Amino acid sequence: MGIERFIDLRSDTVTVPTPQMREAMATAAVGDDVYGEDPTVNELEARSAELMGKEAGLFLPSGTMANQVAILAHTDRGDEVIVDSESHIFYYELAAPAVAGGVQLHPVPALHSPTALDRLTAAIRPQSLLFPRTKLICLENTHNRLGGTVTPPTVMEAIYTTAHDHGLVVHLDGARIFNAAVYLGLPAREIARWSDSVMFCLSKGLAAPVGSVLTGSRSFIDRARKYRKLLGGGMRQAGILAAAGLVALETMIDRLSEDHANAKHLAEGLAKIAGIKLDLNTVQTNIVICDIEKTGLNPDEFISGLKANGVLANSFGGNLIRFIAHKDVKRADIEQALEVIRSVVARKTR
Ligand SMILES: Cc1ncc(COP(=O)(O)O)c(C=O)c1O
Repeated sequence: MGIERFIDLRSDTVTVPTPQMREAMATAAVGDDVYGEDPTVNELEARSAELMGKEAGLFLPSGTMANQVAILAHTDRGDEVIVDSESHIFYYELAAPAVAGGVQLHPVPALHSPTALDRLTAAIRPQSLLFPRTKLICLENTHNRLGGTVTPPTVMEAIYTTAHDHGLVVHLDGARIFNAAVYLGLPAREIARWSDSVMFCLSKGLAAPVGSVLTGSRSFIDRARKYRKLLGGGMRQAGILAAAGLVALETMIDRLSEDHANAKHLAEGLAKIAGIKLDLNTVQTNIVICDIEKTGLNPDEFISGLKANGVLANSFGGNLIRFIAHKDVKRADIEQALEVIRSVVARKTR
């Protein structure tokens, strides 16, 4: 018999819109957003700016495009952008800053660590005929490849102050900023304030079907709007999508704590399975990364063993596996997933 329903822990991007979102989408007031005439998009942009404590917002089709538009709007061709060497922008965005923006990424290891300031200042280029101009620092909070960990606002403040002391600006990839906010028990704007621009995703843990919002100063967003059009991201009656985003902001932020508790429960269960290694201190939000080397299974065997028993997870490079908790997996699903993982590992070690 086939599997009726998979417990899908690959990503929070797999979340499906809620009935309230679908209702709002069906009844949304719309207009042509390239003319600035979609009232629902305008409302989403204004609400997003307010939540981030910025002057203005811009609705974009994806987090990747929001990051790239931010880089384009902050830099000139030939500039250098400092990023964390494990950041989404450096790792997963197909060298878009080089392709689309003509800028060079300068990766700094562990940029988000409290001890990174020396490495950061060393990476800022002095003025010289020979060097590119350092213009921008990009941060990520929560940090995907670091297991959804949260960078404390004090660390962000120190980086922001250093950046401004050197005449640089800071962009925050806040794809999961609300997970960080819920973890810290702070409004998202208390994180966003230590950046000149911030983008966040509506289509991850917040479960909207499509979209991210970039926020910043009015003049920055005016520039960003042109770059969105340049990259083909100008949408027309996008209020249908923005309507779901507004419901997401209204109804889906506080419940992220449930995902965090489920991720913690999963991590604690995984840590008890012989051969699986993980650091429980890094499980702060909805992401769990573990090392399966000592189970004797390779990642392909591990993942296909899980899949054959109705559980989906992602390989994360080397012997690492990533699981993400989200609104479409409940506590009982986590228990079931643990049961499956135990049996797949036990079959190998028997
Ligand atoms: C930290 C981070 N930034 C940006 C993105 C890109 O978002 P999108 O998939 O909407 O392009 C992701 C997606 O997983 C992400 O995890």
